[in-house]
Amino acid sequence: MSDILVDNKDGVAVVTLSRPASRNAVTYAMWRQLADLFRAFDGDPSVRSIILTGAGNDFSAGADILEFDAVRGDLEDSKAYEVAVDAAGDAIYQVSKPTIAALRGYCLGGAAHLAMSCDFRIAESRAIFGIPAARLSIVYGISATRKLYSLVGATEAKRILFSAKRFDAGKALDIGFIDEIAEDALSAAHDRAAELAENAPLTIAGAKFILNGCARGALDHAAADRLIDEASASHDYIEGRQAFKDKRSPRFLGQ
Ligand code: COA
Repeated sequence: MSDILVDNKDGVAVVTLSRPASRNAVTYAMWRQLADLFRAFDGDPSVRSIILTGAGNDFSAGADILEFDAVRGDLEDSKAYEVAVDAAGDAIYQVSKPTIAALRGYCLGGAAHLAMSCDFRIAESRAIFGIPAARLSIVYGISATRKLYSLVGATEAKRILFSAKRFDAGKALDIGFIDEIAEDALSAAHDRAAELAENAPLTIAGAKFILNGCARGALDHAAADRLIDEASASHDYIEGRQAFKDKRSPRFLGQ
């Protein structure tokens, strides 16, 4: 997995796209690895929050276009390729832990899908965004377009997708594509990840499930009720109340 580095320390997993010579362009193999990786985080209690970032100067310039002839050359291969892209994006979107994209340099095309799949996006002021699908005659996928729409609304989403133009971090913040500009995005992401790792995992998992369901316009109420009940019956609920009485910080286990 050398094109994707994973470091898990103190409850915070850092996933780094690592092909700096290609501006961390994401290969077919990497889309599939990302899906496997984020699905595995779900069942790993040692991971409490996750940062997604890129090695070197960029987050990522998107899908590796140079391998398209080989892996996305015809209709059949294109469909399989898009399934892999959506599987990666959805595994990130659905993982029950908080996710933060730390962005610098280019964040384009499919990489914007990865960033939008995270709960939060922190970018450096010189980061550059864009979705150049209209320069490649590709329809940006349904899952990615839905995420874009729920972040920035229909008019900005159309402007971004129809024009294929790049935009800067200031614009990205204005339209709600990112939620923070920081001098050092990775360090700011670490601060936020560490803070979130302290909070009750069952609360965050439940809130994320409900909010994602609202954003999709398809909330599974029965599943949400199960998460609410799980938190109410948990050790952590006892611990939260006890810590309040003891006037100390709670120590949550996620169970
Ligand atoms: N796929 C494959 N390789 C890519 C890539 C991508 N998406 N983006 C950059 N690279 C490679 C370049 O081919 C180049 O490799 P080389 O040094 O072997 O020639 C290297 O990364 C550096 O990129 P380069 O284009 O020389 O840098 P630049 O500063 O002139 O331009 C970009 C940077 C990001 C604006 C430009 O590379 C670009 O437009 N990339 C494609 C972006 C895109 O359309 N993404 C959407 C894909 S869905």
